[in-house]
Amino acid sequence: MTERDAFLQDIENELRQIRAASLWKNERVIASAQGARVRVRGGGDSDGDGGGDSDGDGEREVLNLCANNYLGLAADAELIRAAAAALEDHGLGMASVRFICGTSDLHRALEEALAEFLGGEDAVLYPSCFDANGGLFEPLLSEQDAVISDALNHASIIDGIRLCKARRFRYANRDLDALESCLREARDGGARRIIVATDGVFSMDGTFAPLAEMRVLADRFGAWLMVDDCHATGFVGARGAGTPSLAGVRVELLTGTLGKALGGAAGGYVVAASPVADLLRQRSRPYLFSNALPPAVVAAALAAVSRVAAADDLRRRLDDNAALWRDLLSRAGFSLLEGGHPIVPVMLMDAGKATALAAALWERGVYVTAFSFPVVPRGEARIRTQLSAALDRDDLIFAAEQFRDAAGSLGIFS
Ligand SMILES: Cc1ncc(COP(=O)(O)O)c(C=O)c1O
Repeated sequence: MTERDAFLQDIENELRQIRAASLWKNERVIASAQGARVRVRGGGDSDGDGGGDSDGDGEREVLNLCANNYLGLAADAELIRAAAAALEDHGLGMASVRFICGTSDLHRALEEALAEFLGGEDAVLYPSCFDANGGLFEPLLSEQDAVISDALNHASIIDGIRLCKARRFRYANRDLDALESCLREARDGGARRIIVATDGVFSMDGTFAPLAEMRVLADRFGAWLMVDDCHATGFVGARGAGTPSLAGVRVELLTGTLGKALGGAAGGYVVAASPVADLLRQRSRPYLFSNALPPAVVAAALAAVSRVAAADDLRRRLDDNAALWRDLLSRAGFSLLEGGHPIVPVMLMDAGKATALAAALWERGVYVTAFSFPVVPRGEARIRTQLSAALDRDDLIFAAEQFRDAAGSLGIFS
């Protein structure tokens, strides 16, 4: 075998190992807009008995309880109209990075609107929040500095920290004593600048970072606070301004996504003081060296920001849905992680049970995803359900009945 062939064979072996460890991620193919119900191609109907509505073309409709479409804006008519108008006026895209000839009036308008909405001086758009987090730390921190990160932070924060030269500290999830020890060690070690980095909401658990207490600690040690609010912006806090607003604190660095509650298309941003935003524009590599966001996406996000700031109706509906869903599932005997966030993890504790339940629910027309080790700690397998303002009361009653019946037929509670 040539070295060239051996390369490919190694990859095939690695794929076999992923499958053997039950870690293979299957992608279902959705042939409709994102919403409370989606039409899924092929159906993935393993026992062949249908379930859900089938139109005979190999597509079926399922109730979707696993999207980040928190406010139900992914197929909102007003946002789509804004995107369509920008497509007409501004074309498909800028064919340029921002600093060459990729900055349109829409990009600047969205940056200003995000800064205003989220209480910062300026905002910097990125192709994704993964890129925003990936490009944030390296321009701000050097060998003389320190970065302190929650152990459950999103992969993009972890990768962004890896790309900077600062001394790294990690503290147990939401553990304020451990954070304080890290801060003390960083200061005693002579760190010049310190950033404490956290998710505002931890996406596997739906739990909130203790931002008020973290602010006090950060101030005591002269540190900056960085919050990734992907699972909060638009629906947590007054006017949907996110976890800092809920906790009543200011943060120096706020990152977020346009790919969840703010319409669900794509894009990310950093909100910060003007000098920080200016430095990111000069030095942050994913900003400097990647194509500008398409104008249609930017225009839709701009419409989303103004819709969301006034969307108490949608936030109320989302909160009511989350409360009803928690109540229905608890009464059906499921064990949930406590909290008030629309991420509602249904704890099965066993990877086999979680996978079997998700498959049985799929057969019954309910689309959910099972998570097990290494995505969540060993022995804490779960189905992560996510609520949306697009769902209604009947949807949730139907889904809860399916959860109860599927679990009963699988003997999950026995
Ligand atoms: C906490 C968190 N941060 C960052 C990201 C990345 O966001 P984007 O999809 O905009 O790259 C995600 C998306 O899954 C996320 O959940």
